[in-house]
Amino acid sequence: MLHVGFGKVILLGEHAVVHGHPALAGAIDRGVRLRARAGDALRLRIPAWDIDVAAGDDHPVARALAAVAAALGVDAPVVLEGDADLPPAAGLGSSAAVSVAVTRALAAHTGRRLAPDELLAVADASERCFHGNPSGIDVAFAARGGLGLYRRGAGIEPIAAAPVPIAIGLSGQARATAAMVERVADALAAAPAVTAGRLDRLGDAARRGAALLAAAPADLAALGALFGGAHAILRDLGLSTPVLDEMVDDALAAGAAGAKLTGGGGGGAVIALAPGREAEVVESWRRRGKVAFACRVGVTPIDPAA
Ligand code: MEV
Repeated sequence: MLHVGFGKVILLGEHAVVHGHPALAGAIDRGVRLRARAGDALRLRIPAWDIDVAAGDDHPVARALAAVAAALGVDAPVVLEGDADLPPAAGLGSSAAVSVAVTRALAAHTGRRLAPDELLAVADASERCFHGNPSGIDVAFAARGGLGLYRRGAGIEPIAAAPVPIAIGLSGQARATAAMVERVADALAAAPAVTAGRLDRLGDAARRGAALLAAAPADLAALGALFGGAHAILRDLGLSTPVLDEMVDDALAAGAAGAKLTGGGGGGAVIALAPGREAEVVESWRRRGKVAFACRVGVTPIDPAA
């Protein structure tokens, strides 16, 4: 049996969500799929990402694996092995997808049935190996799929809307979530009023974006306009890079209604909303030598309880 964790895209509200604001996000049809079998040690192998670690190794993924085993109270030699079609370290929830897939696989192999909240709590302990103050948004969408407004402590409020077509371009620089989350915390300490105002505006954009998606028909052009404002605020917070800014400009020049960085920033990916012109945006990034693809945000690829 395959145990899955989905990738996710944050449309609006990254970083603000760490500080209690809502974020608008959804799962994508790419992720991590693992099988479990008995072995001679607790190991995780994901050849697509060049990962082959044992629980005691000095490697963040090994620590995440050990954290899941500790949280589940499992001390069994199990080999978890599988595939990933999600780009790693791109701000698309790869670490949460691993955490969720590992949690599901290890629990199932050792005969544990996890309630949805338990799954999130265990995967969250593992996610803390990647950055110290996760809002929980990545593991929530990695586990559940779908589209919704997420708030720390409250979870996902689903939005009944069709998945959102977007273009995704990878900067080729690894996202730096831990450092960027710390950068925002430092800014809040150094310039509380300005920084809190910026985070308020990011959270407000997420709320307005959710309303635009919930409308019938969804107003994707207006949602795109919110992307531009959000990217400017994220840049002012020091979370963008020259490459991400150039890729935003490429997307706009190719006809996108809006584009922004997504996820932790400091590298990672750019998303663009370009209804009917996703192929042109993808092409503009490929001309720059970047990996890019079109996808839909807010899918539930398979039964999230699997
Ligand atoms: C990372 O995908 C999203 C951040 O808001 C961090 C978090 O919510 O844990 C940057």
